[in-house]
Amino acid sequence: MTHMHVAGSIHADATSAAPVWLRKPDDANRLADGLWSSTATRADDGCLRIGGLTADELVRQCGSPVYVMDEVDFRDRARTWRDAFEAWSVYYAGKSFLCADVARWIDSEGLCLDVSSHGELVVALRAGFDPARIALHGNNKSDEVLRLALTRGVGRIVVDSADEIGRLERLTTELGVRAQVLIRVTTGVEAHTHEYIATAHEDQKFGFSISGGQALVAMVRCYGSPTIDLRGIHSHIGSQIFDTNGFEVAARRTLRLMSQFKEATRVTLPELDLGGGFGIAYTTDDTPAPVDELARDLEGIVDHECRAFGLERPHLSVEPGRTISGPSGTALYTVGTTKYVEVGGGQTRRYISVDGGMSDNIRPALYAAEYSAVLANRASDAPVELSRVVGLHCEGGDILVRNVFLPGDVAPGDLLAVPASGAYSRSMASNYNYTPRPAVVSVRGGKVSTLIRRETLDDLLALDGGLSGE
Ligand code: LLP
Repeated sequence: MTHMHVAGSIHADATSAAPVWLRKPDDANRLADGLWSSTATRADDGCLRIGGLTADELVRQCGSPVYVMDEVDFRDRARTWRDAFEAWSVYYAGKSFLCADVARWIDSEGLCLDVSSHGELVVALRAGFDPARIALHGNNKSDEVLRLALTRGVGRIVVDSADEIGRLERLTTELGVRAQVLIRVTTGVEAHTHEYIATAHEDQKFGFSISGGQALVAMVRCYGSPTIDLRGIHSHIGSQIFDTNGFEVAARRTLRLMSQFKEATRVTLPELDLGGGFGIAYTTDDTPAPVDELARDLEGIVDHECRAFGLERPHLSVEPGRTISGPSGTALYTVGTTKYVEVGGGQTRRYISVDGGMSDNIRPALYAAEYSAVLANRASDAPVELSRVVGLHCEGGDILVRNVFLPGDVAPGDLLAVPASGAYSRSMASNYNYTPRPAVVSVRGGKVSTLIRRETLDDLLALDGGLSGE
């Protein structure tokens, strides 16, 4: 999935046919298994329906483009994680998508919450999320966010640097409170994913290195600190990972570290957090393992390693983000133009331009992520054509779906739906080209409600110092 040389790879791709993994669908109206949220169906009238509402109705009521969160599906996924990892703490990773109502859904389904910035923490607290069930991440936490976390009693602070330990010692003393911390460690695991979302190899910004010895030093320092309670270790190896091999290595290395700490201090640390990163299906090429299978595998791995090191099994945590929010979200776009472009060798490619793009989903441009799409406002019997769905931005790399078979009669005014869009799309959105960010709505039982309202051009113009007098 990594582009070795971005320009070269895109150019090379232009003359080729469909990638080998992409099969021509027998019926382009069918919603492929495993990609869609659970209430998504194609109604008798041919229209895509989510949460009891057709794509047409959703766009009429909420505008376009719009991100649609299927509340029933989201809650089911959260519950599935909680039940499968029954004896564990399951932290939903808010960075994948967070707003006040999502924090409340997570709360009511009995999960904990992982936040990784001041803003995410404030949203969670304003939504009434119990601070004791929040873990705060970040490699560069400000005094302001640490102060807020300490005064509100945030349950776990995941410490990332020696500077942060010093900051915590100062702030806890000043505020007269104690900090409950996990030490974020680098296990040296090379996760099989895009390099930008792999986080446990040595040459990256997160955590303390185990192999370099800094992790043990940080643990001993926190242990000796009068205002810091060292609860355990945290490891996150990366994202969109499909096998448990990386987790096995991470568990072995973190538990070995725990046993070294025990040798040094005679203390067994009570907690181990194995992070998130579990992959989802964006296209029919992706085949994620069922959650209960993951739970069984991870349990087995940890038990085995604990026995090997003669350690009592610590309390375990995981932090799934994408696997909960990703498949629950569908992006709806309106087609604006279609054209056929000569790509050499007598071949053409059909480009379908929609009213969003890299400003609402940067993932294809940033990670060469693949997506899928269907015609959403009607069924079509027209023969399918290999198509590329692109955005409206002033940039050639503004691609939403690089390769997808769509009916040949897709035309301006039609709606396209992109499944598995709930994670890291709206949450990573920008205002590139002065583009207001789309709304996120939730649907349930035929009712729609606003999770995040659509930005207006006036919202953006209000930020412009040169216009503020108008
Ligand atoms: N825990 C920690 C400490 C993390 O850093 C992350 C993701 C997660 C949990 C949740 O990972 P998930 O289960 O959602 O994969 N923007 C990228 C992903 C970056 C993830 C950053 N950390 C993407 O769009 O693929």
